[in-house]
Parts: sequence; structure tokens; C-alpha cells
Amino acid sequence: MNPFKTNIAEAVHALVDAVPAGKLEALLEVPPNPAMGDYSMPCFKLSKVLRKAPAAIAGELAAALADKPPAGFSRVEAVNGYLNFRLDPAALAETVIRSVREAGGRYGASGVGEGKTVVIDYSSPNIAKPFHVGHLRSTVIGQALANIHRFLGFRVIGVNHLGDWGTQFGKQIVAYKKWGDRDEVEKLGVRELVRLYVKFHQEAEAHPELEDEARAEFVKLERGDPEAKRLWQWFVDISLRQFNKIYDLLGVRFDYHLGESFYIDRSRDVVKELQDKGLLAEDEGALIVRLDEWNMPPALIIKKDGATLYHTRDIAAALYRKETYRFDKCIYVTDYAQNLHFAQWFKVIELMGYDWAGQLVHVPFGRVSLEGEGFSTRKGNAVWLEDVLEQAIEKTLAIINEKNPGLENKEEVARQVGVGAVIFNDLSASRIKDVVFSWETALNFDGETGPYVQYTHARACSVLRRAAETFGDGGDGGFDPALLAEEEARALLKDMLAFPEKVHQAMEKLEPSIVSRHLIDLAQSFNRFYHEHPIVVEDDALRKARLALVSAAASVLKTGLALIGLAAPEKI
Ligand code: ARG
Repeated sequence: MNPFKTNIAEAVHALVDAVPAGKLEALLEVPPNPAMGDYSMPCFKLSKVLRKAPAAIAGELAAALADKPPAGFSRVEAVNGYLNFRLDPAALAETVIRSVREAGGRYGASGVGEGKTVVIDYSSPNIAKPFHVGHLRSTVIGQALANIHRFLGFRVIGVNHLGDWGTQFGKQIVAYKKWGDRDEVEKLGVRELVRLYVKFHQEAEAHPELEDEARAEFVKLERGDPEAKRLWQWFVDISLRQFNKIYDLLGVRFDYHLGESFYIDRSRDVVKELQDKGLLAEDEGALIVRLDEWNMPPALIIKKDGATLYHTRDIAAALYRKETYRFDKCIYVTDYAQNLHFAQWFKVIELMGYDWAGQLVHVPFGRVSLEGEGFSTRKGNAVWLEDVLEQAIEKTLAIINEKNPGLENKEEVARQVGVGAVIFNDLSASRIKDVVFSWETALNFDGETGPYVQYTHARACSVLRRAAETFGDGGDGGFDPALLAEEEARALLKDMLAFPEKVHQAMEKLEPSIVSRHLIDLAQSFNRFYHEHPIVVEDDALRKARLALVSAAASVLKTGLALIGLAAPEKI
């Protein structure tokens, strides 16, 4: 993936054929102090095989490589048992810029996933409930994982596993019939449905018989009663209308919207199969799978009243997906509060004898909390996500109006940057960490934010435009790579060189923040170069070399932003 590392590994392997080149390449590290070199090989890891002290190994290898360093390197040195390699600046510039150009917007893409299918279950909000910040995080992480896997050649199937079934629909129907108004629901959508649902719970405290009515309505629904079905379908449509607005704003697309209700009949088959395989036990009228042996509470399969449960439908969905999509991996993106739920039913799949149980992967993420007073629409604990996004767009528009009032396409750019701020905020730290949302941090154009990366990309585009206007060249012609030897240019080039590896790691670790963190590094390196070295200079050769670097950097920033779901406007 990194041609320079491969060159080191091959050169060293030619001297120590006892260790395969692949192993040697995997040993390479980046020294903490760049003055030591660009890569280093810790030789203590070789002492066992070679039966020599690390310092002796490093010394001998350095001596052997001194006159003929690996291709692309200018210096090899032994320091304290490490073998350090320094890149030749011209080779670095020439290789990186050429690869970025040749890839034409797909720098970092690969075919490692070819022939493999990954199902990603993400977003999955609940019908007639608020789409909350936890669902946003699932959406953003899931979409980034989908993009990254596609980029690496996997066949990706994105599924929105809508929470569209359960006893709460009995309550919703009762509440609507008693206190609801068709026009209000049409007008206010999910907000009105939630209001009715909350009212149901308030009323039920004084009138517990409402609970029985709700159960009766749900039974009707499960039996396919036309009126109950019609109301339910209407709630689904109303909710989807609202969810789709959010997906449009975020630029998110699914291959399938298949809610839990899709799996009801299949859930019955699951119950039968569990029974046949002797896995079901009865517990006070309910059916469960005991998991004591694995130190987990039992998985609930069928309730006392015969209704299927969240576990049952997840098991049915997994069997359906395996059969239909023949996945090699099926990924579930949810809050870590569901760790136990997934551990339980993954175990059930294993107990059912399916050898692919290990292909089911839960990708948990931390909680999102909100800070400051910007969120005026708090309703209980719910925050209306469309409000958050709309506020982000509005605030961004205000910033643009202040800093760049003449910008064409202002509204669209405000949407791209405002939404980008919210998305990036969710991806800025490793997913398992809890995140705090603060307007000030998320929209800060100088902080480690989405807008900062977008702004850096736009800055690069503006340099290229200026060069084209003044000199007629735009960064894609011939150039002398030896002119890109300054420390700042090298640092930027090295970040670009590392980009494909970062994308690959993000896929392996199911961690999109590896890409977002790297984009911050790239943007910072770019800005350091930009502040240190004038680009659109009179000197033809120098200008062309610098423009080649700027153009390649802009391309990598844009590719990276797209992978995590952000647009890259050319002017901000
Ligand atoms: N609807 C669930 C929730 O809001 C998330 C569903 C996740 N996917 C799954 N297959 N269980 O908590």
C-alpha cells in the first residue's frame, strides 16, 4: 500500500532472507522525532531469529545498505538498535503526487474487499418516536463505514432496520383514536404522534384500563386487522417522511428500509427452529433461551401474551440477511447500551449451529450529550434532530454573511458546512467515547472540526483558481519534485502518503474517526505549508511544483471528506 515501506522491506529481506518481506514491512514504525528519519525498523524484534543483539543487527544492516539504500531513500542509519530510513524528498513528492493524479479522485481506493459482501445495519430509528442524536450517530458512523467499505471494493448493503413493531403501537393507536386529530398529525408529524404517546402514559396513570385497550389494539394489529393496519401504516409513512428529510440533509442513502415488522412471519419460523433444536425454555409463560452458562441473562423470544420480541426479530433478520445477501460480515451500529442485547442473540445464533455466527459484528458507540443553551427544543430528553441541523445551517449562514457576504450559492454552502459540522463532530473522537455537542466547538472554522477541513480544501481550491487566472496554470502539469523538499512540504506529502493506510485501518477497525483524525492532520500540514511558503510566485518552476502539491492535497482532502460523508465546496 505504501511503496516506500515495501522498498525497505524488500531491501532488508535481501539481506536477511530468514524473515519474509511482509513481516519486515509490518515491523516498520514512524519515529516519534522526525529528525531520526521517516521510518524505522526496531531490530530487537529480529534478535530472536537472527540470534544477535539488536544493536549489532542494526549496525550490520546499516553498513550493508549505506551505499545502496532502498529505492526512494537517501539515508540509512543505525541508532540504538533501530534502523532508521530517510526518504529522498524528490522521490517522495514525485511518487505521492503521481499516485494522487493517477487515481483521479480515488486515491486510497483498493480492491481488498472484492468478492466480499458486507451488510451494514445502521440509523434504524423508531417509528412515531423522535429521531434522536443517538440515531444520528449511528447514521453518521454507519454511512461512513458503508462509504469506506465500498471504496475498498466490498459489495455493501446498507439496511435501515426501522423500529416499526412492538406493543407501543397499540398505545399509539388508542391515543390517536381518543385524542388525535388527522390534520394535526399530518401537519406536525412525529411531534404530534409523540405528544399523543406521552399523553397516553399520563392518562394511563389514572386510568390503568387504557393499558388493556392498548394491548387489545396491538393484538388486532398482529392479527392483521385492516383498520389497525391502516393506522399503523400511516404512522410509518408520517415518520418516514420526516426521517427522509433528515437523510436528504445528511446525504444518506440506504439500499433497503426493512423494518422489524418485515420479520414477524419469519420470527414464527425462528421460534419453531429454536424449539426443534431444543433451545427454548419456558419461564412464567414466556419462552426464553437460557444463557447462564455464558454469564448472560436469558434471551427473551416470546412474551406471555404470544408477542415476538426485539431479540426474535433480530434473529429472524440475521437469518434472512444471510440467506438473501450471503454476507461475509453483518455489522450493527448502535449505542453501547445495546451491547448485551447483541451479545445475547449472537450467542443464540451460534447455539442454533450456524457457523457464521462469528460474522455478526456489533459496532458500539458512546453517548451524545448536549451542552449549552442552544437547544431550546428539548422535550424531556428528546432533541429534535431536524432542529439541530437547521440551527447548524442557520448559524453557518450567519458566519458566511459576516465573513464572505458575496459568496455565490450561499444557502447550499451553508447546508454543506453546517451539516458537515454536525457529522464531523460525531466522528471526531473514537466511536466508543461519549461526545459532547457544543455549537462553539462544532462550528469553529479553526478548531479540529469539519468546517476547518472543508475550509482548508476551499482555500486550496482558491489558490489554484488564482494561479489559473494569473498564469494560466492549475497544478496538473509537469513539475520538478526536487523543489518540494522543504520540511512543511515533506510533512504534507507524508500525510498524503499515509492516507491509503489510514482508510484501510478505518475499515479493519470499523473506526471512521481514523479518517477524520487524519483529515485534521492533513489540513494542519497543508495550512503550515500554505503559511510558510507563497505558492502563486513568479518563478515558473517553483510555482508549478507548489501548485502540483496544492492540487494533489486538495484532491486527497476532498476524497477523505466524501468518505466520512462531507461535501467539499470549492468556495466558502
Ligand atoms: N431501533 C433500535 C433503537 O432505536 C435500533 C436497532 C438497531 N438494529 C438492530 N438490528 N437491532 O434502539
